[in-house]
Amino acid sequence: MAGPLSKRGKVGLGAALLSLTLMLAACQPGPPEPAPSPTLPAPSPTQTAPSPTQTAPSPTRSSAQAAGGSVHFTAQGDIGVGAGAKKVLDVIAGLKPQLNLALGDFTYKKGMEQEFCAMVTGSLGTDFPYQLVAGNHESDGSDGDIENFVRCLPNKLPGLEGDYGKQWRVDVPEQNPVARFIMVSPGIDFRGGKPLDYSRDSERWRWTADAIDQARSQGIPWTVVGMHVPCFSLGEKSCQAGKDFTNMLIEKKVDLVLSGHDHVYQRTHQLSTGGRCPGLVPAAYSAACLAGTGNSPVQGSGTVFVTVGVGGVGLYNVQNNDPEAGYFVTWSGKNRNPTLGTLDVTATADELAARFIPAEGYSFADSFTLQRR
Ligand SMILES: [Fe+2]
Repeated sequence: MAGPLSKRGKVGLGAALLSLTLMLAACQPGPPEPAPSPTLPAPSPTQTAPSPTQTAPSPTRSSAQAAGGSVHFTAQGDIGVGAGAKKVLDVIAGLKPQLNLALGDFTYKKGMEQEFCAMVTGSLGTDFPYQLVAGNHESDGSDGDIENFVRCLPNKLPGLEGDYGKQWRVDVPEQNPVARFIMVSPGIDFRGGKPLDYSRDSERWRWTADAIDQARSQGIPWTVVGMHVPCFSLGEKSCQAGKDFTNMLIEKKVDLVLSGHDHVYQRTHQLSTGGRCPGLVPAAYSAACLAGTGNSPVQGSGTVFVTVGVGGVGLYNVQNNDPEAGYFVTWSGKNRNPTLGTLDVTATADELAARFIPAEGYSFADSFTLQRR
């Protein structure tokens, strides 16, 4: 399924100036003022299942192409259709990213796909690339159907390959890409109650590994992998993404791995394998698996994992004494600095700068920058 990458050309001076102008116009971060304290409904976590076979709908030209040497995106999951979701959408609208990664769990209810899509397009516009990957609530069609979401919020990025909504990749900008986004769906059930096979050396494992390897060999500065479920977490969830699959992402030094599912915000240090850390083991901690620590690690040392399951619905508690806590730099949950909001990332050839922007009524914040070697 991994096809050839799109051609990358040179940008002339005129185009570069135009790109710079458009980029400046498009990237005005404006974190909203934190405000009063929220009362949000808690969704019920559950299961999932099967799926469709669609390929990406035809892409429309988007602002993602205009920014030249940078990419600005937001990411969050676990959204719902309530007041929290709308507040987070307001934040995204204010940040004016080129695209948003919606990391699954959209409505938590059946039959509300159109309402969800209308809520999104009402805030962000009908042409905005609000890019989907399924969560466990819609992957099997039980609480809304990923196939319906994909129809009402279709892919808007040119050059996307794979099965949009489930397993896809895209380079942004299409010409001279700064980042490759690889979205996958391990650890959740699809139609028929079965998970997709991401076991070692399976077709989907190889698709993912090849996408990472090719990005590196093609000189794309940053690789971002997204999926609904995390592996390491201080919230309620276990390693649903799979230990082997997660270690493969670390061994390949993916720069940033994004997830939702646990309704918390949490960010790890750079994690790496090798030497005295042959592989990370869930529910345990080894200092030998820590690479870059702090807020400005250097690219290539390891992988930073961020869970942004705070896109609108009710929060879960975090366990401050979780065995994996040593891997984390910062975290937030229902019982610790509760927040809804979004991750906001701007990447250039030199650095990837990320920050968490809280929705109105919240004050938790985070920021880190990965420096290019
Ligand atoms: Fe969720």
